[in-house]
Amino acid sequence: MSDDSKRNAPSALGRRSVLIGLAALGGIAAVDVGGFLYAGGWLTPGRLTPPRFTDRFEQVFGKHDGFRRNHAKGLSASGYFTSNGAGAEISKAVVFRPGQFPVEGRFSLSGGVPDVADANATVRGLGLLFTLPNGEQWRTAMVNIPVFLDNTPEGFFERILASKTDPDTGRPDPEKMAAFLARHPETAAAMEIIGQQPRSSGFDNSTFHGLNAFRFTDSAGAIRPVRWMVVPEQPFVPADPVPPPGRDYLFDALIRTVANTPLHWRLILTIGQPGDPTNDATAPWPPHRHSIDAGRVTIDSVQTEEQGNARDINFDPLILPDGIARSDDPLLSARSAVYARSFLRRSSEPKQPSEVNVERVLDER
Ligand code: HEM
Repeated sequence: MSDDSKRNAPSALGRRSVLIGLAALGGIAAVDVGGFLYAGGWLTPGRLTPPRFTDRFEQVFGKHDGFRRNHAKGLSASGYFTSNGAGAEISKAVVFRPGQFPVEGRFSLSGGVPDVADANATVRGLGLLFTLPNGEQWRTAMVNIPVFLDNTPEGFFERILASKTDPDTGRPDPEKMAAFLARHPETAAAMEIIGQQPRSSGFDNSTFHGLNAFRFTDSAGAIRPVRWMVVPEQPFVPADPVPPPGRDYLFDALIRTVANTPLHWRLILTIGQPGDPTNDATAPWPPHRHSIDAGRVTIDSVQTEEQGNARDINFDPLILPDGIARSDDPLLSARSAVYARSFLRRSSEPKQPSEVNVERVLDER
């Protein structure tokens, strides 16, 4: 710890020890948060680059050929989106016209270890790709936490190293996390918000948040800042503090549920007001902002990851239909660049079978 950090430590010690405890739960420590220096959307030469960021995931989680460098453990899914037309009020995107559009998806756990044991605290992800009749696509990758942990790519780059598991203790080094949090109050504040949100029992009753702000353009050319989330129609059940046995209990439950019944989420678009931050994913917008229920996402099938399904999709958050555009959030360019690098590596490597296997779970019933 630096001398400066030591001087800062006493005043915030109580709060920080809570935060370190949260980080030690693992999921929060593993969530994507990024650290890049950007100028006009381009990486500054000689500074943080997509390959360096991708190397950092390998340094922290190990190198696992053929797998995503983050959100490595996953399950492919498919279904459709039924748009009720209400989103057309704020965006001319075809996806918001009334109709039904095919969706490919992927449920995941954060972190770069493809066979990591499921845990309630680990951040859950949902990637969705909407295919639109005019040939456009809308891709989004969302997580089950209400804010992101960092507001710059640099933060993520630094933090995943600070939260790396110490092989001697099996936990992150509390001193390293404390030093990181002393330099990053935005992460400490985000952890507090996340810690107040009760965890749900499974993927099926999780709310997934897009977190980054985007700019929606309506048919008259008006532009509004928007954040989105998908809210489950399945009722909330709190996570059991003593989770069921099984390394893959979250995924196994999802597979069994989808075999019996389709799952549904409402797509909620929240409109920002002047002054609401669009460049800081750690900062929530004030509650009760005007929201639009744009329709229903249905997942009616899940598949073991393999060639041709969502295993081979890059859920790049900047693949957007006309009517949705990037905001000034610096995470977006970083995400797009690093996902591409991760995709490039994993698609040219030999593939091992994925940990989560639909047939195995259904055969056990
Ligand atoms: C600078 C910030 C970020 C970096 C560097 C980063 C990095 C990554 C990487 C390397 C992957 C694997 C990509 C692939 O191989 O296809 C990934 C996947 C993912 N990330 Fe991020 N991420 C960032 C921010 C975020 C944010 C803000 C969210 C949520 C809003 C998020 C949610 C996800 C999800 C859900 C996946 C899995 C998608 C899938 O199933 O393919 N990430 N991230």
